[in-house]
Parts: sequence; structure tokens; C-alpha cells
Amino acid sequence: MFNAYRCKICGETYLGAKEPENCPFCGAHKHYMKTLAHYNRIKPKKISEKSGENILAAIELEVDNAKFYACAKRKSTDENETSVFKRLSKVETEHAEALAKLMDINPRKIPVYDECNSDPKKLYEEAHKREDRAIKHYSKFAQEAKEPEIKKFFQALVEIESDHLALSKKKTR
Ligand SMILES: [Fe+2]
Ligand SMILES: [Fe+2]
Repeated sequence: MFNAYRCKICGETYLGAKEPENCPFCGAHKHYMKTLAHYNRIKPKKISEKSGENILAAIELEVDNAKFYACAKRKSTDENETSVFKRLSKVETEHAEALAKLMDINPRKIPVYDECNSDPKKLYEEAHKREDRAIKHYSKFAQEAKEPEIKKFFQALVEIESDHLALSKKKTR
């Protein structure tokens, strides 16, 4: 049934016939997509100093990856690849914004220019390294989080970045 489905991770609303397998905005898995009656945003009342530090580090990482994908989008000569990198840049930007909302701070602006390779294989190799780095950091941040909501949030990000890793793995094989 056509309905509104809202994502517990990024807070965006998807309009469609049924909930999507992944949030089209942040990539969160299906079980985070809720009808409005069942929606509640993952957000702790209080955030410990350690989690606060980790969230800020995660924002930096997301901004850096969004910047890389934006560069990859500009450098890529294949129109299909361009569209993939564009989407990845938007997804990572969405992550930075969702993390910032956890702490009620303004998200950092994504810098426009960055240097990156133009060889498609090299771009995916770099993407692979970046996703791997994100997964390692977020797994640690999830472990360190005392707040169940922050733990869940970082676990959801690990799932999403693992999906990205599967994509870059396919491309570099
Ligand atoms: Fe989302
Ligand atoms: Fe991300």
C-alpha cells in the first residue's frame, strides 16, 4: 500500500508502495524504515564524552569520504560510474548530517574540491580502503558506546558501509 516510510537512522521519508530494502537516502537496512505511526528516531537523551568524541570523529570521516566520492564523480568518464559515485557522495553526506543531528550540531559543509585519481579501477580501490576504514572505526565506536542508541546507530552504519565495501569489491576484482 502506498505509504510514507521514515528512516530511524537519517530521519528522511520515503514515499512508496512498500518499505524499500535499503533507505534510499542513507542506505540503512529495511528494518529501520517505519510507517509514521511506528517511527521514533534513534537518539539518546544524553551523550557521554567518549561517544561525543567518536561522533565528531565519524562526522570528519563521512565528510572526507563524501568529498572523495564527489571528486570521483567529477573525474569519472563513464556516465554510469558517475551516477554511482554521485549517489555514494550523497549517502555519505547524509551520514554526516545524521551524525550531526545526534548531537544537535550543524553538519560540516562538504568541501567542493579534492584531488583524486581518474582511473576507474584506482577510484574503486581507494573507495574500498575508505569503506574499510569506516567499518573499522564504527565497529570500535559501537563497542565503546555505553548508550544503546549510539551503539545501534554505529552498528547500522557498519551494515551500510559493508554494503558499500561489497560494491567496491565487485569493481576491483
Ligand atoms: Fe535513512
Ligand atoms: Fe558513511
